Amino acid sequence: MKVVRTPAEMQSIIKSHSTKSIGFVPTMGSLHEGHLSLVQKAKAQNDLVIVSIFVNPLQFGPTEDLEQYPRNEAVDCRLLEDLHIDYVFIPSAQAMYPTKPRIQLTLTDRVNVLCGQSRPGHFDGVAMVITKLVQIIKPTHMYFGLKDAQQFAVIQLLVEDLNLDVKLIGVETVRESDGLAKSSRNVYLTETEKHEAPYLYKGLQLGQSLIQRDETDTKVIIQAVKEYIRNHTSAEIDYVDILTYPSLEHIDFIEDDIILAGAIKFSSARLIDNVILTSEGHVKKMD
Ligand code: PAF
Repeated sequence: MKVVRTPAEMQSIIKSHSTKSIGFVPTMGSLHEGHLSLVQKAKAQNDLVIVSIFVNPLQFGPTEDLEQYPRNEAVDCRLLEDLHIDYVFIPSAQAMYPTKPRIQLTLTDRVNVLCGQSRPGHFDGVAMVITKLVQIIKPTHMYFGLKDAQQFAVIQLLVEDLNLDVKLIGVETVRESDGLAKSSRNVYLTETEKHEAPYLYKGLQLGQSLIQRDETDTKVIIQAVKEYIRNHTSAEIDYVDILTYPSLEHIDFIEDDIILAGAIKFSSARLIDNVILTSEGHVKKMD
């Protein structure tokens, strides 16, 4: 595995692999099993696998955890080395953004709901870095975890609207045995919070079971999920919502594929999770 630190070097390497399928996994590092499952999928489907590690400043708001975001390059590289990937691209912020941005991407759809509501500009920053990474790496396939299902839906729009020549692959969320979705932010949970955190997913499963029992009224389902989370955790509920998927529109009654998503805040970690379901409440197959 070769470590590459500048866009120019990465681009010149890519030129020498022009006939190969390239599987690309963009990350912000602090890799966990969720990321590694994306890498494994990329390995199974491509000639060459490239992972990027870049904590993208453009997607952090002024009050968000950019400085505190966990960084662990040596451990990340060891994990990737064990999976025998070809290249890890670890540019500095200066290398990615040598000037102050002179172009801004502003997304109009799918962004002002769920996490986008409380993170204005976040998905514009994600769109900018993904556009740049796709230009640099020219992947044939690009892999994202479905824990960030809104991000996946937004990147689908980006790929469609900018005619990016890459196939997107959404990979199912990897969970602890108690159901908690793997996340780089789980390390911040206290012992008590670790115990309570799985109730976010259990709450979403309760919502799913209501849909399976023919409840279609989104208000009723959302209320039941919120109540369940409140009864089992000390977390503050940021949101629980049901939207069409992937168009992310509000609905009163479920008639088609939906996302049931939640975000809760513990003392120093905000956790998100979701289930993407058919109108009958079955988990939607995404590949
Ligand atoms: O999901 C993430 O880790 C980031 O948003 C991404 C896609 C790597 C862009 O910085």
